[in-house]
Amino acid sequence: MAKAKYTTHLGMVDILPGEVEKWRALEAIIHEEAAKFNFEEIRTPIMEQTELIKRGIGQLTDIVTKEIFAFTKGDSNYVLRPELTAPVVRAFVEHHMQQRGGAQKLYYIGPMFRAERPQKGRQRQFHQFGVEIIGSDNPIADVECIAFMMQIYKRIGVKNFNLKLNSVGDPESRERYKEVLKEYLLPNFDKLSELSKTRLEKNPMRILDSKEPEDKPIIKNAPIIGDYLNDESAAHFQKVCELLSALEIEYTIDPLLVRGMDYYTRTAFELTSPDLGSQDALAGGGRYDLLVEEIGGLPTPAVGFAAGMERLLIACEELDISLAPAKTVDVYIVTLGDAAKHWGITTLSTFRDSGISATMDYLGRSMKAQMKDANRENARFTIIVGDNELENNKFTLRNMHESEEAQLNLSEILDKLKG
Ligand code: HAM
Repeated sequence: MAKAKYTTHLGMVDILPGEVEKWRALEAIIHEEAAKFNFEEIRTPIMEQTELIKRGIGQLTDIVTKEIFAFTKGDSNYVLRPELTAPVVRAFVEHHMQQRGGAQKLYYIGPMFRAERPQKGRQRQFHQFGVEIIGSDNPIADVECIAFMMQIYKRIGVKNFNLKLNSVGDPESRERYKEVLKEYLLPNFDKLSELSKTRLEKNPMRILDSKEPEDKPIIKNAPIIGDYLNDESAAHFQKVCELLSALEIEYTIDPLLVRGMDYYTRTAFELTSPDLGSQDALAGGGRYDLLVEEIGGLPTPAVGFAAGMERLLIACEELDISLAPAKTVDVYIVTLGDAAKHWGITTLSTFRDSGISATMDYLGRSMKAQMKDANRENARFTIIVGDNELENNKFTLRNMHESEEAQLNLSEILDKLKG
């Protein structure tokens, strides 16, 4: 086939019929489970102010330095949202949502944009669902986030994963740890990768999740943050672990888990799947107790997570999990002649008004071709209409799956299909 003149941008994909049904099924599951957790949906614009994203996620992060799609128009800077934590917090502050009382338990589904090098499971426009609980520093909030995340995978039947957990500490614990870490890394400076060398001064903790082979042996023996948490952070982490065990959610503590955004404090977690190949992170999240204040709100603790929807769908494919049934239509009206066509187009609405999906040929095809089309559309029933049928007010209703036929009038057909 000739190559199309216009195509999608690199790393941005069309979701075509056949695929969309899986997305809708997944979205329906997310909405249903969110309702069970008493989370409320929030929808924010696709574009935000660049400054919000830089400030929220961190000036030196990969996302901000390399991956944002940003542009200027008039006096305004726009950025396609690379994630939703900072935008949701912006909305919380902008709309004084703390006045609604209690912790705000928000969830979202939508597209995000990051200018990464595309590969399987990594796109430039991808979709996340996620939760942000704003206004509670109780470990119950951390665990509810994780429980919701796990519930979605459990319900879908994706069971093969690893929940990694860490505490990245509060600022006091982290400052202490960063000093110790720098002291450890400095004598190894020459052996570090170029990327890690650049991170040593301003963001030494990011070195811990370096993928560069030369960094690995150095990281292996590095001091771990768990040994430098102050009493409060340690107690918080301990409680999160206890509650997860009480909920029978399995996890492993990974002292090297630091996550890629600057806003994290205390709990950090990531869900990985061996079914995913190199882009193995299904979901990730954690606490961000300072972000609300950072972007202009009152000091307000918060915790959340986001999950990649493409990656969840890839896992379903690998595991042969089908989220949506094959497409089908209840009735296909097969017509012969102009009077039958007229009857068909006017009767379609009778079916639809009774909650029955119905279609007919739009191309003036032969009866044989219409029957073939009805099969392709996976119609449950066909109604065959010609001049004789119109005259006698009796139509052939054929059950396409059981190859049975009956001669019925319209109201009998409606009764049969509704029953
Ligand atoms: P994140 O780890 O950057 O966290 O993204 C969460 C998930 O989004 C990843 O685990 C992955 O499944 C998916 N994802 C990320 N980038 C891509 C990509 N380029 N293509 C496909 N999927 C991708 C966040 O976004 C934080 N906002 C999570 C959070 C919420 N933390 C607190 N609250």
